[in-house]
Amino acid sequence: MARPDPDRPGAQQWVPDGADVDTLAAAAPACRGCELWAPATQVVFSTGSPTARLALVGEQPGDREDREGEPFVGPAGRMLDRALDEAGIARDDVYLTNAVKHFRFDERGQRRIHKTPAVAHIRACLPWLTAELAAVRPRVVVALGATAARAVLGHDVTVGDVRGRVLDEAGARVVVTAHPSSILRLRDDVDRTAALAALVADLRTASGAAAS
Ligand code: URA
Ligand code: SF4
Repeated sequence: MARPDPDRPGAQQWVPDGADVDTLAAAAPACRGCELWAPATQVVFSTGSPTARLALVGEQPGDREDREGEPFVGPAGRMLDRALDEAGIARDDVYLTNAVKHFRFDERGQRRIHKTPAVAHIRACLPWLTAELAAVRPRVVVALGATAARAVLGHDVTVGDVRGRVLDEAGARVVVTAHPSSILRLRDDVDRTAALAALVADLRTASGAAAS
């Protein structure tokens, strides 16, 4: 067991017991479970259907999400929308959230540069995700990228090794796939097209499993 860190007590004490998604979202702004709340503009909770069969978990809000208070409204969100559309999944029909609810970044002059959350942040924020999944009870959880996979599965995986399979772990069916941001980082058009097609295929697998 890691020693309790007084600066990072974890979210548990701020998470209301047995709450629905609206109640969780209303409680989240008060969270001081780790230090990420302080430099961020606001907490970014979830969006979409609280009765969804399919839940998608991202990493953390980005710059745009931090300013707007909504998940997946920036460039990664547009890529995700495109993938959902190509997979025939309506965004309103899914539950969309993040492993970590505050934006972690480095300040470089006027710019805020995304910084991957550490395992300690994922762990601190996990009580929110656990409560959300208990409230929504989706049939399938899609982990978008390694950070989400770590949060959902409770251990590290290599996305390339496990992606696109329906895993039966941690009491839920889980499909791990790439994060839409990883597609945005590809410079070559052919690579991008292939990466988007792979994401679409994994989303189809997940939505097929959620429908059955
Ligand atoms: N990337 C994520 O993982 N989540 C968001 O909400 C935005 C970008
Ligand atoms: Fe709480 Fe999560 Fe924000 Fe940390 S990142 S303060 S645990 S909501």
